[in-house]
Amino acid sequence: MSLPNLPSVIIRGTGAYTPENVVHNNDMAKTVDTSDEWIFTRTGIRERRFAAADETSSTMASIAGRRAMEAAGVHPEEIDLVIVATITPDMPFPSTACLVQHALGLKPITAFDIEAACSGFLYALRIGANMLRTGDFKKALIIGTEKMSSILDFSDRSTCVLFGDGAGAVVLSCGEGSDEGILGTLSGSDGSNPALLCQPGGGSRQPATATSIHARAHFLKMNGKEIFKVAVRVMEQASRDILKQRGFSPDQLDCIIPHQANMRIIESIASRLKVPMDKFYNNLSTYGNTSAASIPIALDEAVRSRRVNKGDLLLLVGFGAGLTWGASLIKWS
Ligand code: ACO
Repeated sequence: MSLPNLPSVIIRGTGAYTPENVVHNNDMAKTVDTSDEWIFTRTGIRERRFAAADETSSTMASIAGRRAMEAAGVHPEEIDLVIVATITPDMPFPSTACLVQHALGLKPITAFDIEAACSGFLYALRIGANMLRTGDFKKALIIGTEKMSSILDFSDRSTCVLFGDGAGAVVLSCGEGSDEGILGTLSGSDGSNPALLCQPGGGSRQPATATSIHARAHFLKMNGKEIFKVAVRVMEQASRDILKQRGFSPDQLDCIIPHQANMRIIESIASRLKVPMDKFYNNLSTYGNTSAASIPIALDEAVRSRRVNKGDLLLLVGFGAGLTWGASLIKWS
């Protein structure tokens, strides 16, 4: 829900970074028992970017963050809040946000990570916008960043072909009116079946041991069929709920940027909402699923290519492990 009688929050600039190393489905097929035809028809993915050995979630986040600040015309000195969404932090602690704070030469400001998997950026956007509305913070850098290749099991063809690496960022600050910028946000969770999509090893339940490593417990595990069904249901519901909250209907949307997980998921949501596919922005074929980075990378592309313009009604909607989901309704300004 948006907060009535509090200032609007505007996205002042966007930025993204994706690694140089392009890995086509045909490249994957050289080492994994798969094919371009299988991957593309099931998912819409043609290629993804994999980070170099010396690239991490914080290095990618820092580049995306710098680009967002440049686009916003905001000097690093002005940023007083950094929130990084990631499930692939450089290390369990300290937070990736602290590493970004230092790398970007920001002041000794509030910096922290949040973890909501593929919904992470939408959670961070909601938290950041509401922190600005309190008046305690003036300019926030919100980043989604992932080095998914670091947790992929390349012996599991059902998951390793789906994901890619990258980062996307936005700079937020308060606006004047109440009918511009981020009109509303929502988020939710259902932790009843964490095994649907998880990285079982490396936490307090299953710390790293020779046994856990041998069992490949430190890699991503997913029940793709179940996740597919839930994804369609929760993204449709989140879209309907946020539109209803703000008094809009699906046909009033100019652009929808969904989490980039699978083209068939996006097509199912389009059909359920009765919104034509050309209103859905997608770049799945180029990047695969970059988890928390997928929505801000797509947003940056959509803004820079003028697919999103001043006055447009824009919906961001996503879901991820947890399960988690989130949405943000924006009047672009
Ligand atoms: N190449 C070739 N064959 C494959 C591959 C592959 N990469 N992966 C699986 N197969 C085979 C399976 O072994 C199976 O073979 P079998 O019938 O001989 O047993 C066959 O293909 C069909 O497998 P299914 O799992 O039934 O394939 P499905 O049509 O369900 O598609 C997919 C799988 C693409 C993973 C789909 O279920 C999906 O997209 N689910 C959603 C996943 C998703 O969005 N995850 C992101 C969550 S967001 C986050 O928080 C990270």
